[in-house]
Amino acid sequence: MAAWETVTETINNYTGLSPAAFFTVLALMYVTYKVVCGMFVAADDYAAVKRSNEIALREPAQMGDVTEEELRAYDGSDNNKPLLMAIKGQIYDVSRSRMFYGPGGPYALFAGRDASRALALMSFDTKDLTGNIEGLSESELEVLQDWEYKFMEKYVKVGQLVSNNTSSESKEAERQSIGNTSKHDEDKSQENKIEGNEVQ
Ligand code: HEM
Repeated sequence: MAAWETVTETINNYTGLSPAAFFTVLALMYVTYKVVCGMFVAADDYAAVKRSNEIALREPAQMGDVTEEELRAYDGSDNNKPLLMAIKGQIYDVSRSRMFYGPGGPYALFAGRDASRALALMSFDTKDLTGNIEGLSESELEVLQDWEYKFMEKYVKVGQLVSNNTSSESKEAERQSIGNTSKHDEDKSQENKIEGNEVQ
């Protein structure tokens, strides 16, 4: 109590204000400071925010066949690249949900990857950050299917994952192969057979 009296007395001696008036002025100064700060953005931050907004708003570009390694570059760390994420080998442009998948976002760990296993298991464990869905139960595959439907509805599909050793020439050869059936299509129909569930 004595300390409080000393403080109020000192405030009064130095400023001529009552403690209530002094703290009101202090609060107003703090609010003014915060408002003025909010009106300015550091030049670097501004450029980055503007760039990522532009990317989120533009029509997603089709990427075609992409390897897992290539996909990693689209994890949001480069503001000039779209944010991509894959489910069951299908790549979606998730740039419009940067708040979820961008750096610092709650689901940033999924960006630039096929996160099928993690989504099926509702897991944030890094060992589940893979497109390998072997050994999942019926109900886990159903959870994954629901995620896939959500992504198909919300985002634009921009490509598909291909294995690392599929060179561009062999990709081209595959495209021109009899019946024009790509490896991905084969994989997908195999996948659908396993699930007994025709997608698209
Ligand atoms: C405490 C548990 C959790 C809470 C409270 C929570 C909450 C939320 C909320 C509020 C959203 C936004 C929904 C929207 O606006 O569309 C969301 C989105 C999402 N959640 Fe969770 N979540 C949880 C756990 C998980 C887990 C375990 C996973 C997967 C491992 C997950 C994956 C996702 C994904 C991928 C999205 C974004 C979907 C999109 O792109 O629209 N969440 N979550």
